[in-house]
Amino acid sequence: MRVQDAVLQKLEEKQGEFLSGESLAASLGVSRNAIWKGVKGLRALGYDIEAVTGRGYALGREADVLTAESVARRLMTPFPVRVEVRREVSSTNDVLKAEAERGAPEGTVLIAEEQTAGKGRLGRRFLSPPGTGLYLSILLRPQFSAEQSLFITTAAAVAVAQAIEEVADVEAKIKWVNDVYIGGKKVCGILTEASVDFESGGLHWAVLGIGINIAGPEGGFPAELRETAGALFPGKCPASVRSRLAAAVIRRFFEWYERLEDAPFLEEYRRRSFLDGKWVAFTLGSEQFSGVVQGIDEKARLVVRLDTGETQAFSAGEVSMHRAGGETA
Ligand code: BTN
Repeated sequence: MRVQDAVLQKLEEKQGEFLSGESLAASLGVSRNAIWKGVKGLRALGYDIEAVTGRGYALGREADVLTAESVARRLMTPFPVRVEVRREVSSTNDVLKAEAERGAPEGTVLIAEEQTAGKGRLGRRFLSPPGTGLYLSILLRPQFSAEQSLFITTAAAVAVAQAIEEVADVEAKIKWVNDVYIGGKKVCGILTEASVDFESGGLHWAVLGIGINIAGPEGGFPAELRETAGALFPGKCPASVRSRLAAAVIRRFFEWYERLEDAPFLEEYRRRSFLDGKWVAFTLGSEQFSGVVQGIDEKARLVVRLDTGETQAFSAGEVSMHRAGGETA
């Protein structure tokens, strides 16, 4: 570990308290000058570190530390997970897909402070500014069929909703198929990409990408998202919230993943689903449907009593709850 990262880890362990340069140097086995250089490097990255002669260094109580160590320390999962945190990537999904092709193992997790080309579903962009969101991707090498692998996204939505409630005092709902909502606004989107093995009918790999808005971006959400997008903390964020949330998401997800074939998360998914009984308009490819949602079936499909009278189960599609003319059902 670099001295700079080790200093950050030590300061975060005692966040808000002063640690002397001498004790830091002794515990890390480096010179006091190396500690000071590390502190300067961390400040240049934006960390609020106070330096007081005779007392040493202290990390601000509200600093939101996001490092591989700060996440790993909170993980507490028996599943073999390796976390990497980068400052800026194009898209964590794209980078991890390339690593998957090069043979990276299941359980590799990539987190970025910022994405310059964050991707959403259906070719959309996912706004990923630094500091206010959690952008992470998990590499999986599922042993089950491609059909069962569809549960990956469903399980992830449940894991995210549970993790959000672990770190924030809010109620998280799920909008089929994979958006997490708080107070009627979308706070999380999930994009799973996979490489299919046609011979076995399974997958070579799947990359599960999760983007969570922790706070509103500086200057607010852009006009096109203002009506629909929300964040976990509209005001001040608690310390190290991204590390805590990342660890909780990863831990919760792998709990479900290990039992994915039996779909034990479905009950929790149904409990959090807020489309039941609602009228929805539905786009699948170029086709349009509308009707009243009856529930989620055992394959995590959305069951809809269509306006035509027939009942159909959908495994993919884009749902909206707005009737033409602006009325919301
Ligand atoms: C959606 O809401 O349409 C899905 C958004 C998925 C965003 C996440 S952020 C981490 C990962 N990397 C990406 O480029 N996209 C996913």
